[in-house]
Amino acid sequence: MARHLITSAIPYINGIKHLGNLVGSQLPADLYARYLRARGHEVLFLCATDEHGTPAELAAAKAGKPVDEYCAEMWGVQKELSDGFRLSFDKFGRSSSAQNRALTQHFAGKLAEAGLIREVTEKQVYSKADGRFLPDRYIEGTCPNCGYDRARGDQCENCTKQLDPTDLIDPRSAISGSTDLEVRETKHLYLRQSAMRDKLNAWIDEKTDWPVLTTSIARKWLNDGDGLQDRGITRDLDWGVPVKKGDEDWPGMEGKVFYVWFDAPIEYIACAKEWADEQGLSDEAWERWWRTDKGAEDVRYTQFMGKDNVPFHTLSFPATIMGSGEPWKLVDYIKSFNYLNYDGGQFSTSQGRGVFMDQALEILPADYWRWWLLSHAPENSDSEFTWENFQASVNKDLADVLGNFASRVTKFCRSKFGETVPEGGEVDAAIMAKLQGFDETLAAYATHMEAMEVRKAAAALRSLWAMGNEWLQDAAPWAVFKEDPAKAAAIVRLALNLIRAYGVISAPFIPDASHAMLSAMKTEDASWPTSLSEIATALPADHDFTVPENLFRKIADEEREDWQSRFAGVRT
Ligand code: 2FM
Ligand code: ZN
Repeated sequence: MARHLITSAIPYINGIKHLGNLVGSQLPADLYARYLRARGHEVLFLCATDEHGTPAELAAAKAGKPVDEYCAEMWGVQKELSDGFRLSFDKFGRSSSAQNRALTQHFAGKLAEAGLIREVTEKQVYSKADGRFLPDRYIEGTCPNCGYDRARGDQCENCTKQLDPTDLIDPRSAISGSTDLEVRETKHLYLRQSAMRDKLNAWIDEKTDWPVLTTSIARKWLNDGDGLQDRGITRDLDWGVPVKKGDEDWPGMEGKVFYVWFDAPIEYIACAKEWADEQGLSDEAWERWWRTDKGAEDVRYTQFMGKDNVPFHTLSFPATIMGSGEPWKLVDYIKSFNYLNYDGGQFSTSQGRGVFMDQALEILPADYWRWWLLSHAPENSDSEFTWENFQASVNKDLADVLGNFASRVTKFCRSKFGETVPEGGEVDAAIMAKLQGFDETLAAYATHMEAMEVRKAAAALRSLWAMGNEWLQDAAPWAVFKEDPAKAAAIVRLALNLIRAYGVISAPFIPDASHAMLSAMKTEDASWPTSLSEIATALPADHDFTVPENLFRKIADEEREDWQSRFAGVRT
C-alpha cells in the first residue's frame, strides 16, 4: 500500500465549466483516485476553485455582486456539479481561503529571504477608455512568438508561450476593444525564475517517465533562450492575496495583490490544510502529505491538467517550491491532456459554445458522460465530441453490452432459479474456453490504470464487458436449461459473479452503475479481482440478489437530433 496525493488543476470560479475542461483534468484525476483507492492505497485527492484575478472581478461586476459574495455562490454551484459528476475529491477547497492567503504570503517571504524576488518599477498598460490598469488577460494582441492575433496578455492560447502584456504586438483592451492605451509606471515584484533555470532543467531531465506532452512543453520554455524569464507575481487589483512577506507588510506594495497564477498552485497545499482544519485535525495530518520532513517523502504526488497549464506546473510552481528552500513535496508525475473539441469547432467558455456541466447533467446521468469522455480522452492528440459518436458509444458499450449482460443474466436466473445464486455443477472447459484471454485483459486493464493510460484502460474494460457478453451468448443457458438445468445453473452462477466483478472494476469509470450492480448482487465485497477463478467463487451458491433497474437506456435518434440542434448555438 502506498500513499498517493492527487491534484486536479483548479477551475476558475467565473462560470460553469464545459465538458472539455472536465475531461482535461478533474475527470481523469477522479478515475485515478478511485482506482487507487479500490486497490487499497491511501489517497488524498484535492481540487478547489481558482478565485482570484480579474476574471472573477469582472464576472462579479457583470452579475452585479460583490466579488466575495459572487465567489462564494459560484463555489457552491461548482461544488454541486462536481458532486453531480461524482468527482470524489477529499476536499474541494477555495483559493480565497485564509489558509491559502497565509501560505501564499509565507512562500513570498521565503522567496524574498532567499533573494529570489526583485522589485521592478515597470510600465503597465492603462486604458483611458476603461479608466483602469488592464491586467494581462484583458489585453489582447498578436503573439510575438507565433503571430496568433488573439493572444492574451498572460499567455498565447495557440503556442502556449507565457507572455507579458507589453510583449503583444498591436495591443487592445479586451474589455472595450479600445486601442487608446498608455503605459504608466507602477512597482511590482518579480520571481527570479531565471536564477533557477539549471535546477529546473536538471529536475525535468530526471523525469524520463513523464508523458512527452508534458516534458516537451517544459523543455520548450526552459531551453528556448528567453524561455524561463523572471515573472511578475503582483498586480494592481483589489481582489486577491494582499502582498506581504509572511506576516509582515511589504513596503511599497500597499494595495497590491499577488498574481492569481502565483497563489493558485499554492492552493494545492492550502487545500490539504483546509481539509485537515475542517475535520479538526492537527497540522501533522496535512503536513504528512506535503512536507518531506514530516513523512511526505513516501508520498507519490500526481497532477492532472490541460496542456495550457503545463508551463505553470513544470516551471513556475516548482520554482516557488524549490526557491522557498523548505522541504515541500515536488510533483512526481504530471499527466497532461490535449484539447477536446466540440462538433467541428472548439469548446469555448467565453463564447458559450459546447455542452456545459450543468446542461450535461440535465439531459443524462453522470455515468453516460464519464464513460464517453474518459474513453475518448484527448491524450495523444486533440479529440472531438460529436453527438453521433456519443450516441453510438452509449448505446453500444453501456446499453447493448454491459447493461444487457446484467439484465439478461439476472432476469433469466430469477425466472428459472429464483433470486439466489444457483448451485449447479461445474462450467465445462469448452464453455470456459470462450473466456480465454479474460485474465490477460484484466491484468492489462490494471496496468493501463496504473500508468494513467485512460483510453487504453477504457478499451480494456470495454473488452472485458464484451467478452462476458459474447461468452453468455455462446453459453446460452436458456437453451442449455432444457437439457441440463445443472449446467445452466453453473453458467448463471459464473455470470452473476461476473456482474459483481464488473461492479468492482468499472467503478472508476461509471461509479453509479457499478454501485447499482453491487447492490443488486447484495454484496459489499468490493475486492479487486485479478483472475477469473477468483471472480467465479466470490458469490457462493444461495447468496441472494435482485434484478437491477435498467442500468443504461439507449439514446434515440430523435433525442440526439434534438440535443444536436439545442447545443448548436451559443449559451447566453
Ligand atoms: O486553467 C485553469 O483553469 C486554471 N484555473 C488552473 C489553475 S491550476 C493551479 F495552478 F492551481
Ligand atoms: Zn503564440
